[in-house]
Amino acid sequence: MKVLFVCLGNICRSPLAEALFAQKMKNNTGWQAASCGTSNYHIGEPPDSRTVRNASRNGTPIQHLGRQLTETDLDTYDWIFAMDRSNMQGILRLAHTAGQRAKIHLMREFDPEGPGEVPDPYYGGDREFQEVYDILSRSIDGFIDRAVTPSEPKT
Ligand code: 4NP
Repeated sequence: MKVLFVCLGNICRSPLAEALFAQKMKNNTGWQAASCGTSNYHIGEPPDSRTVRNASRNGTPIQHLGRQLTETDLDTYDWIFAMDRSNMQGILRLAHTAGQRAKIHLMREFDPEGPGEVPDPYYGGDREFQEVYDILSRSIDGFIDRAVTPSEPKT
């Protein structure tokens, strides 16, 4: 299964989501994660230094280069997560089939403290970057619990 995390710039939220998913899924083969942005603002750039610093403080290694979402991604990936409603609109603009649209979810659908949006931390400070980390960590745990971890057989 292939999972794609999508934000606007692909330097703050979605590369962190990808790194958290990879870290939490370490021994679970068969799942692959990637991330991209709806914009072309930061193609080829490493994640924002504040994201890297915050992730490192929280024990999450992060390594990525920015890329922009393409229509092909909507066929390649099985689960596509938008960080906020604006990202969701950007993804939907490229979707042409009901099958493509059905794969697109708001990340915080899986947050036990959600739903809602993963706020853009770009104009924020340490507190906003930590808030994004906490929201993403909970949301990805929620997704793994609900969609990845096989359910116990019912007796
Ligand atoms: P991201 O954050 O979408 O979480 O990567 C942003 C990064 C860059 C910009 C906006 C949001 N920007 O306007 O350049």
